[in-house]
Parts: sequence; structure tokens; C-alpha cells
Amino acid sequence: MSKIKCIGVLTSGGDAPGMNAAIRAVTRAAIYNGLAVKGIYRGYKGLVSGEICDFKSQNVSNIVQLGGTILKTARCQEFKTPEGRKLAYDNMKAEGIDALVVIGGDGSLSGARVFAEEYDVPCIGLPGTIDNDLYGTDTTIGYDTALNTILDAVDKIRDTATSHERLFFVEVMGRDAGFLALNGAIAAGAEAAIIPEYNTDVDQLEEFIKNGFRKSKNSSIVLVAESKSNGGAMHYAERVKKEYPQYDVRVTILGHLQRGGRPTAHDRILASRLGTAAIDALMEGQRNVMIGIDHDEVVYVPFTKAIKNNKPINSELLNVLHELSI
Ligand code: ADP
Ligand code: F6P
Repeated sequence: MSKIKCIGVLTSGGDAPGMNAAIRAVTRAAIYNGLAVKGIYRGYKGLVSGEICDFKSQNVSNIVQLGGTILKTARCQEFKTPEGRKLAYDNMKAEGIDALVVIGGDGSLSGARVFAEEYDVPCIGLPGTIDNDLYGTDTTIGYDTALNTILDAVDKIRDTATSHERLFFVEVMGRDAGFLALNGAIAAGAEAAIIPEYNTDVDQLEEFIKNGFRKSKNSSIVLVAESKSNGGAMHYAERVKKEYPQYDVRVTILGHLQRGGRPTAHDRILASRLGTAAIDALMEGQRNVMIGIDHDEVVYVPFTKAIKNNKPINSELLNVLHELSI
């Protein structure tokens, strides 16, 4: 394998708070280690169309505190085709880029895996998604900030829920992963979380009404993870309106509010550690791995493991929520 002299960095898929701190860390760690850096704009789209610029240390000044991503982000259908990836490879080579650091979620790291297999390009992934759905890392960049945003919102919704004695279904993001909903519910003192990972044979709504709401509460907040299979908060609200017309039901969908904002200290530190570790990994000859943090240690997780969509929900957390919502 020839020596790496220049790396390209890109952000892809859904933006997440802390992506800028990660871009900064990758850029500065690379320069510190004597590598040249190129910023690739709009994720794989910019790699396919050649939107690539030299990056110096100053390019990443004053961004550690910013949400979003200065490199912009995008979805790119073309990169899913061999022809698109060929264009991407040609642009990479024309710019003298020897290795890629991809900051993104499950989809973005799937793209990196395919590309690295096809072109023998060293690729390192950083888990950048609010969903926390990548296997092999305790948390992902953006997750903690999104969780705190959810808390701010639910704390406010609770005022209305309590004053009007209402039942609120609050839908949070997660694309078929319940981490935001479950941990958001625990932290916000919500009465329940409806999450896709929990046994689909169980009617989670029925269970919640029986076990908690009906017994002692005049108001309740249920966090619902967005999911293709459960129909989301609207679905549960419609059901309650039909099956339990005595309850005054409302729905709030938090939506993209959850993706923005200043990254928390946790996300900035995580992004800084992962970004510097990405460059260490490349210097050590690692390739096609996601960098994660497991029990406070940096770990290298092969793409194939990280993106399998099987990060488990800790069942102890379900019990905590259940016990505390009586
Ligand atoms: P996220 O990274 O947030 O999960 P997406 O799932 O939208 O975001 O994926 C981001 C981009 O990654 C896609 O638009 C596409 O360009 C690329 N990508 C995703 N899956 C693949 C794949 N199987 N092969 C090639 N590229 C992919
Ligand atoms: O992956 C992050 C995420 O916010 C998911 O939770 C959500 O399903 C998806 O992105 C929505 O993406 P967009 O609105 O950008 O299409």
C-alpha cells in the first residue's frame, strides 16, 4: 500500500450537531501529522461532481461550536451506481486524494464500504448521526445534543399536558431506532416510550394504558420513535381517540428541530476524539473501519459490523422507564 499523503473529508446524509467539530478534528490532526487535506462539499454528491477544495487549519477555525456542517451534506443517488462511484474515484485521484474520512450515518458508511471494496481506497468512517444506530460505539456524534433538544421540548410540553390534563404523543426521530425515544423518555420523566425494537407482538399502547395512565395519572407524555412499522405518533393518537374517547389527546412531532443547534460538550469531545483517532487509524494502516468509543476507549469497528442495523437497546432502560412511570 502506498503512503498516504493527502486525505479527503466529507459529511453525508442527515446533518448532526458535532459534525463541524469532527471536520475540525480530522483536518487539524491530519495537518499535525504532515498530511494535506481536501474538503469535499455536499457529501458523495461533491465527490461525484468534483466540488473539492484545499483545506488549511484556518478553514476550520471557529466552527467547533456550530451545528450543521460547513461542508454541507446531501443524499446522492448517483453514488449508489457503479458509474457514479467511478466518477467519484476519478475526481479523487485527479485531486491527489489517497484516503477518505466519511462522517455520516448508516447509509453514508454503507456507501464508504461499497466504494472501498470496489476501488481499494482506504476509507475511515466517523459515526455522525442523531439516531445513535451504529453498532460498536456507545454513542454517535449528534445524539447527545438531539437528546437534550428533546428534553427542552418535552419539559415545555409537560406544562401544557399538566395544565390541561392531556395525553401527549411526542414523535421523535430515529429512523427505526428507539434510542432517542427511550432515553428521551427516561430523562424527561415521560410515562412511556413506543419504540420499534420492543417486541412487535406486544401492543405497546394497550400496555401503557393498562399499566400507567389509567391508574393514577391525569396527564401523560408518551415518546414515540418515528418508524416505518409503527405508524408514528399520529397513528397512536388516532387509536386512543377511537378506543378511549375520554382522553384529551394531542400530538407533537419534533421533526428537524432535533437535528440542529449548538453541539453539547459531550458531542464536541466525542467528535474531537473520533476525528483525531481517524487520522491515527489511517497512519497505522487501518482501512474500512468506523471509529467508535466503547467503554471510554477508541475502537475500530469494521464497516460490515457497524452498519448491520443491529445495535441493541439496553433492556435495563426499558425497566427503568417502566418502574419510574407508576
Ligand atoms: P445517513 O448517512 O444519514 O444514514 P443516507 O441513508 O441518506 O444517510 O445515506 C447517505 C448517502 O450515502 C446516500 O444518499 C448515498 O449517496 C450513500 N449510500 C447509502 N447507501 C449506499 C449504498 N448501499 N451504496 C452506495 N452508496 C450508498
Ligand atoms: O438519520 C437521521 C434522520 O434524522 C432520521 O432520524 C430521519 O429518519 C431522517 O434523518 C430524516 O431525514 P431527512 O428529513 O433529511 O430526509
